[in-house]
This record gives sequence, structure tokens and C-alpha cells, in this order.
Amino acid sequence: MSNIRNIIESELNRVSLFKSKEKLYPEYLPSSLPHRENELKILTNIFKPMLLTPGTISHKAMIVGGIGTGKTVTARMFGKEFTQIAKKRGLNTSYVHVNCHRDRTLFEVVNEVVRQLRLPVPQRGLSVREVLNYMLDLIDGENLYVIVALDEFDYFINVAGSDAVYFLIRVYDEFPDKVKRLNFMFISKSATSLSMLDPTTESYLMKNLIMFNPYRSHELYDILRLRAEESIFEGAVSDDVLKYISDAVGSDKGGPGNARAALEILLIAGEIAEREGLMNISLDHVRKACSIVEPNAVMLNDTLPYLSFHELLTLKAIATALAESGEPYVNTGVVEEVYSRLCEEYGIEPRKHTKLYEYIVNLRKLGILISSTSLKGRKGRSTYISISLMPLDVIKSKVDELLKVKVIHEGSGN
Ligand SMILES: Nc1ncnc2c1ncn2[C@@H]1O[C@H](COP(=O)(O)OP(=O)(O)O)[C@@H](O)[C@H]1O
Ligand SMILES: [Mg+2]
Repeated sequence: MSNIRNIIESELNRVSLFKSKEKLYPEYLPSSLPHRENELKILTNIFKPMLLTPGTISHKAMIVGGIGTGKTVTARMFGKEFTQIAKKRGLNTSYVHVNCHRDRTLFEVVNEVVRQLRLPVPQRGLSVREVLNYMLDLIDGENLYVIVALDEFDYFINVAGSDAVYFLIRVYDEFPDKVKRLNFMFISKSATSLSMLDPTTESYLMKNLIMFNPYRSHELYDILRLRAEESIFEGAVSDDVLKYISDAVGSDKGGPGNARAALEILLIAGEIAEREGLMNISLDHVRKACSIVEPNAVMLNDTLPYLSFHELLTLKAIATALAESGEPYVNTGVVEEVYSRLCEEYGIEPRKHTKLYEYIVNLRKLGILISSTSLKGRKGRSTYISISLMPLDVIKSKVDELLKVKVIHEGSGN
């Protein structure tokens, strides 16, 4: 008994090398943003006229950059500070951040804006146009100005189409005399999807484009230093360790320049050290962490949480089918069989064939799947799909984790 108690007591008393681990998580908003000062200045200048001549035009900024270049965090921090400063100066302003991986249709985006602004718009039975008009009237009534950030905007263009984009961008075309209260920030991984829009819209957005470049090694070092100070006890992580990570990830040293990957390496290295019962992080812990955190894993962690229950189940079916067959690709027919079997295991009704196909198309658009319609030596025109990103068991365990949570929150709702 006392042995067990000792084990538990000593584990409880053991001080962690992390003082607050959650400050290394991607969703945490840090106290400052080193090396994004210039980007913050440009954003300020784009939205400055909101304060000087409120309501005359609807302002739009376009943020473009690769994964982990700080687009989301910079937009959020700008939104938070700008609205507070605007309020102090007497302009009632709100910032709304919408992730288009989660809210993919025009209807979902508009409803999410309404939800975040806590506007009493009737929930059911209205068209998008009606919801939007309702919203415009309500924010008129409250004398409110809004900056809407559409994160993962390239995905929205691809899935919702250019008409949906125009609907948002030209929201005031119908009402030229209305006070322009909605402003936009579009956040995208690349500018190429903009070519889907007409030249006028494209050039307008390009004019207000802010490029977020991959971080160089010394920039990552400053970012890591700051986050390490907030999250890890002094002395537990040396300069050498931080430099090593910065060099491994820095764009000038051949790395991706992705701050998210750098922070994740630090987090995992710390966890490995802790598991070994040590109070500081060594270079060897970092090397181990580097082998775990690879860019594809970072991409997947970014995307999977936004998938619906049935999309996750479809992905699990694909991973299972690939594992069972041992082949590089698997036929969608086989995926459907495994999917039905999984639905049975979860005690839920499978979605129709067309819906399943839609999920597969979506997973492909997200870059999770690769597909091929005609495989050499096979008859027929059925689609063959595969997962190229990472080992199947890793995907499966990530998906299982998320499914567990979604079973509780969403059930088989979507
Ligand atoms: N300049 C910076 N200063 C501090 N933290 C940063 C900076 N840039 C990125 N980060 C951190 O790196 C991670 C990834 O940034 P994020 O904004 O999600 O990148 P993106 O949206 O471009 O993929 C987040 O944890 C974020 O807080
Ligand atoms: Mg982002």
C-alpha cells in the first residue's frame, strides 16, 4: 500500500519542467509577436480609415503565407487590439474569426459571424441573403463596425466557389447608400486560388495583400525564446537547444520556416525529457522530437479537428481498408464496405453513397488523400484512393481520438 502511495505522492510532488505547458499550444495567444511588426503596421494602415472615416467603404486585407508563418495568430492579435483601441476612440468595433475548414459554405460562414456577434437572428427558415440583411440591420441598430477574418480562405474559394466569395465581397453593391460596417480579412496559404475570381476583384485583393514569409532561423529563435520563457521554468531549456530547433526549422537553413513546427518540437522534447524523469531538455530530446514532428503531421493536426464525424469515419475506413489490403491504393467500393462496417460498430446509420463520395472528394481537397481514376492493369473506371501523408496506424489513432470526442459532442449528427 505504502509503496503505491509513495509512487503517487512522489509523482504528484515532482515539479514539472513546464510551468504552463498550454502556452506552447498553437491556439495560445502569446504576449507579443516578434518579427511580425511590419505586417501589423500594414494591417493597421489598411483598417485605419475605419477610424478616420467610418462607414465610407468596406475595407479588405489579404494575408498570404505558408503554414506556421503566423497568419492566424497575427490576425487574431490584431483583431483583439484594434477593436479595443477603436472602442477607446469611440467606435464600437468587433472582430470575428471564422475558420473555413470548419465553416465551409456561405451559409455556415454567415451564421458563424452572426453567432460570434451574438446577434438575435432567427435560426431557421431564412435564406443566406435574408440572414445577411437581418444581420446588417442589427449591426446598424447597434452602430457596430465589424472585421470578419476568413481563415483558410483558399479552401473556401475551392469549396464554396467564386459566387460565394462575390456574395461576401460585394455585400454592399445592392445598398450603395448604406453605412459600410462589414470589413474583411482574407487569410490564405497561397494567392493562386485568387485567379478563380474576376480580374477586378483579384487585383483589388492583390493590392491589399500582405505576404507572410517563412521564418528564418534567428526569427524562430526569438519566437521560441519568448514562448519558452512563458511556458518552461528557467534553466530547463538552454540557448543551445533553442538554437538547434531554430536551425532545424529555419527557412534560411533549408527548413520550412514554420513556427508551429518549431514550437511543437520544443513541446515534445520537453515531454520526452519529463518522461525520462529529467528536469531539463537536452539536444538528444530535441533530436527525438524532430523525428516525430514532421511537416505532414503538423498539417494533419491542423486539419483533422475540423472534420465532421462522418468524414473522420470515412478517413478511418480508408486507413483500415489500406491496412487490410496491404496495397498502395484502395477502391472506393471497398472503402464503402469498411465504412458501413464501422458505422455498425458505432451503432449509427451509414450515410448514402453520394454523401460518402462527397466526403472523399473533400478529404482530397484538403490534401489528406491522393486519388487516381485509372490504375494500370485494372479494369473499369472506379476511383482508387490512398493516404500519402503518414503511417496508417498514426492516422488511425489520431482519428480515433477525435471520434471519441465527437461521439460525445456531435453524436452522428453530421
Ligand atoms: N511572430 C510570432 N511570435 C510568436 N508566436 C508566433 C509567431 N508566429 C507564429 N507564432 C506561433 O506559431 C504557431 C503557428 O502560428 P499560426 O498563426 O497558427 O500560423 P499559420 O496560421 O500561418 O499557419 C502558433 O502557436 C503561433 O502562436
Ligand atoms: Mg492558420
